[in-house]
Amino acid sequence: MLKPARMTFEQAAALPQAGQLAVQGLYAAGPLRPGLKILINGAGGGVGTIAVQLAKSQDVEITGVDSTSKLEMMRTVGFDHVIDYRTEDFTRNGRRYDLILDTKTTRSPIEYARSLNPGGTYATVGGVMTRVLQFAAFGWLIRLTTGKTVRLIMLKQNRDLPLLNERFEAGRLVPVIDGPYKLSEAREAFRHFGAGNHKGKVVITIE
Ligand SMILES: NC(=O)c1ccc[n+]([C@@H]2O[C@H](COP(=O)([O-])OP(=O)(O)OC[C@H]3O[C@@H](n4cnc5c(N)ncnc54)[C@H](OP(=O)(O)O)[C@@H]3O)[C@@H](O)[C@H]2O)c1
Repeated sequence: MLKPARMTFEQAAALPQAGQLAVQGLYAAGPLRPGLKILINGAGGGVGTIAVQLAKSQDVEITGVDSTSKLEMMRTVGFDHVIDYRTEDFTRNGRRYDLILDTKTTRSPIEYARSLNPGGTYATVGGVMTRVLQFAAFGWLIRLTTGKTVRLIMLKQNRDLPLLNERFEAGRLVPVIDGPYKLSEAREAFRHFGAGNHKGKVVITIE
């Protein structure tokens, strides 16, 4: 699939994987409907900053969870509410959501299910592997005992590129890019990413 002419190569590098995980996680329970309450955990990285822009095309209420330094950027990119995970545990604050999209998966299926409204869906794209495996093993049990759905998203490559291009061309999706860094700065870029200090997607250009 070709990138739109207006899309820079840096933007084209930032969109496919994170963008498709965002699409496939966001629509895990079907189309979004107005009034839906959505929470994205680990929202300041590649997936979250794209998912919020896709979701905002509907009249939904969307909360993002990440660390302090990213909260301002997250508000700018469209989150209605932000939570600093270092000071507040969203699974224990009493609020409920219809859809939770998770990029970090640090808690148990039961803790996440507690934060869902009746009939709600939790979708994880990745995170702590032992936790992710719990979702694979016990998803059916959560559904049986709570009526809530938990889903493990396995990336379907290339499926949603046309949608991402269409939203970009309509001016409704602009990837958040950290950098771009030069190839000679790759070491610092990886350190920056490894320390979790990046905002959006880290991009390295080859001169
Ligand atoms: N399912 C698939 O087929 C597939 C394919 C490729 C990748 N993946 C997965 O997709 C995910 C990529 O998402 P991404 O690119 O958006 O990740 P990312 O850019 O690394 O962003 C994750 C964000 O989460 C924050 N964070 C760290 N610990 C947290 C916690 N305990 N609670 C809430 N937020 C926390 C990080 O910030 P701080 O560090 O500052 O806290 C960071 O801003 C990864 O889990 C990757 O393994 C899945």
